[in-house]
Amino acid sequence: MNRAARTTAPPAHEAPLTLPGHPATAPPPDTARATAVLARCRELTRPALVDAVGRLDPWTGRMAAYALGWRDAGGTPDPQGSGGKGLRQALALLSAEAVGATGATALPAAVAVELVHTFSLLHDDIMDGDPLRRRRPAVWRAYGVGPAVLAGDALHALAVQSLAEAPGDRAPAAVRHLSRTLTALVRGQADDLRFEELPWTGPDAAGLAAYRAMAEHKTGALLGCAAALGAELGGAPQATVAELDRAGRHLGVAFQAVDDLLGIWGDPALTGKPVHNDLRQRKKTYPVLAALAGAGPARRELAALLDSDKPLEGATAAHAAALVDEAGGRAATRAEASAQLDSARACLRAVRPDPAAARDLDALVGSLLDRAW
Ligand code: IPE
Ligand code: IPE
Ligand code: MG
Ligand code: MG
Repeated sequence: MNRAARTTAPPAHEAPLTLPGHPATAPPPDTARATAVLARCRELTRPALVDAVGRLDPWTGRMAAYALGWRDAGGTPDPQGSGGKGLRQALALLSAEAVGATGATALPAAVAVELVHTFSLLHDDIMDGDPLRRRRPAVWRAYGVGPAVLAGDALHALAVQSLAEAPGDRAPAAVRHLSRTLTALVRGQADDLRFEELPWTGPDAAGLAAYRAMAEHKTGALLGCAAALGAELGGAPQATVAELDRAGRHLGVAFQAVDDLLGIWGDPALTGKPVHNDLRQRKKTYPVLAALAGAGPARRELAALLDSDKPLEGATAAHAAALVDEAGGRAATRAEASAQLDSARACLRAVRPDPAAARDLDALVGSLLDRAW
C-alpha cells in the first residue's frame, strides 16, 4: 500500500487487516530484553498510574489498587500482587520513542490504555465467570459483582479523563481514537459472548475469519490504540499513527490466539488464570475452531463431544484438549499467531522507527509467541 493510499484509508478500526504473502523470517526471540523492556515501561508508568488512581473515590480506588496488584483486598500493600505484564503501556511508550519523542511524552496514553485494559479484565471475568486473575481472586470474587462492575466503570471513566487532560494539541485526536477503541472492544466482547450460542459446525458456525474479526476487536483494538496513541502524543504524522495502529491490531490477534493456547495448555501458576475454563464454557477459541476446520477421527470425536450435553470438566476437558491437539488445532494456532506477528513486524518496519526503540519493539514482539504468562 502506498503512502497516499494509507493516509486516505478508512479509520483504523474499520480497515480490514491483511496478512502479507511473504513475511520476513522472524528473528530469534530476545526474551531477556523483552522482560527488561516491560519492566522499564512499568516503572516509568507506575507513578502516573498511582496519581490517576488517587483521583478515584476511596472505595473504587481500593478496588482499583487491588486489581492493579498494589494492595490486597483489605487495602494493605501487597508485595506479592501483580499488575500484569504491562504490554499496552509498553506499546504506548515505545511508540513514542519509535517516532523520536521521549517515552514520558506518552505517559497519559500509557495510563489510559492500562486503565482501559484493567477495566476490561474486571468486566471480562464477570462475563466469563472466571474466579482467578493475576493469581488472586478476581475482583468480582473479592468484592462482589456489583462493586466490580462499578470499579470497572470507574477505571473506564478515569482512562478517558487522564487522556483528555494530556498536554499539547494532540489530546482531542487521542481521545477520539480511544473512544473508537472502546466501541470496538465492546463489539469484540459482544461477538465473543454471542459466539457461545452458535453451532460448532454447519453454515451458521463461527469460523476462523469470524474469530479473527472478534479478536481484532476485543484485543487488537486496544493494542493498536496503545501503539497509535504513543505516536499521536509523540507528534507523529497521521500515516505513522495509522501504521502503528495496524501493527498493534496484528499483535492483538496474535496475542489473543496465544492467550487461547494458554487457556488450554498454560500453567495456572504462571498465567494466574484458571485452565480449561474456555473449554468448560464452550468458548469459540482459535485452537478449537482450527481443530474443527480440519478432518480425521480426532476432529469428528471433538465435534461430537462439543455438540453433546456433557460438561467439559476434569478428565473430559483434558480429553477435549488432547483431541484439539491431535486434530491440529494447537499447531494451527501457533501458525496463525506467528503470521500475525510477522505482519506486525512489517507494519513496524514501515514507520522506520528509531533504532533503539526498534530493538525494544522487536524483542517485545518476539517474546509473544512462546510466552508462558
Ligand atoms: C489478558 O491480557 C487479556 C487478553 C486480552 C488476552 P494480558 O495477558 O495482557 O493480561 P495481564 O495484564 O498481563 O494480566
Ligand atoms: C480478553 O478476553 C479480552 C478482554 C478482556 C477485552 P479473554 O476472556 O479471552 O481473556 P482472559 O483469558 O480472560 O484473560
Ligand atoms: Mg476472560
Ligand atoms: Mg472473555
